[in-house]
Amino acid sequence: MYFHIESGNPKTREQIRRVFAEAYEIGKANTARGKVADYIPELAKADKNAFGLCMINEEGESIAFGDSETRFSMQSICKVVILALALKTKGFETTFSHVMMEPSGDSFNSILKLDTRSNLPFNPMINAGAIETVSLLEGDLSFEEMMAYARSLCLDHDICLDEAVYRSEFETGDRNRAIAYLLKSKSVLVGDPERTLDLYFKMCSLSVSARSLAGLGLVISNDGIDPFTGKLLIDPEHVRTIKSIMFTCGMYDYSGKFGVRVGVPGKSGVGGGMMCAARGPMGIGLYGPALDAFGNSSGAVKAMSHISKELKLHVFDY
Ligand code: DON
Repeated sequence: MYFHIESGNPKTREQIRRVFAEAYEIGKANTARGKVADYIPELAKADKNAFGLCMINEEGESIAFGDSETRFSMQSICKVVILALALKTKGFETTFSHVMMEPSGDSFNSILKLDTRSNLPFNPMINAGAIETVSLLEGDLSFEEMMAYARSLCLDHDICLDEAVYRSEFETGDRNRAIAYLLKSKSVLVGDPERTLDLYFKMCSLSVSARSLAGLGLVISNDGIDPFTGKLLIDPEHVRTIKSIMFTCGMYDYSGKFGVRVGVPGKSGVGGGMMCAARGPMGIGLYGPALDAFGNSSGAVKAMSHISKELKLHVFDY
């Protein structure tokens, strides 16, 4: 029995399992090097030593280790769901007339270049870009509709709003308010800024697990099709766009290094989550709230490096 990773790289189920077990040990050991996010007080309550990962393939087989079922807030990984919704609701041209598709090289909440280099946010994976993208949708979709889409993309119908994180996010979100109002002052933000921010805070506060993130990675790596129902959730052309932007912008100012060292389209969040859409098709979700200096889970970055190297998952590994 083989996992369908790549025809040139057959591995038995046992070999694959061993790679994930090793990745778990490496990731867990690296949690000691990171620091839990504390700029949103509710996030500071996370267990610094927690670590888990989960892989799901198109046949529904999964491999999981550690805290793979622990719930935590999706944070910036929701930016992938928001981008998918914008492409589906508004189309490619309209979406990218509001946000660019360039890596910013700056931290996720930077406001600097927005006022000096460009009016449009650099990409949909940084706060400014995600807030702009939500503003495009604010008049068309309710939070419940956005959450329903997140549930189907993550193959997880138990996703709900973490009220405590949402409140904390709302109370401490002044930098995001500054971004929204700066965009409004330039007539770039199209929706109501308060309703836009509320939707953005709520989407960041969706409660997921490493397993849910593996589900999202699987749907993306399977060209937008839910492999278990056959339902098309994201247009394959939009999947190509989303994967490209995840690859170039998904890890903030570590995106270049992640692209070279790991080479798998992925997205991280300050709640400690990481979602990767790997060849196979295969979805990989990781959770480790101890973050490195860039805001990515330090355990997840190391674990993914190991998985990618051992299973030859780098998109340029041929
Ligand atoms: O906008 C914020 O501050 C957060 N709610 C989301 C940021 C985030 O996850 C950035 N991640 N690395």
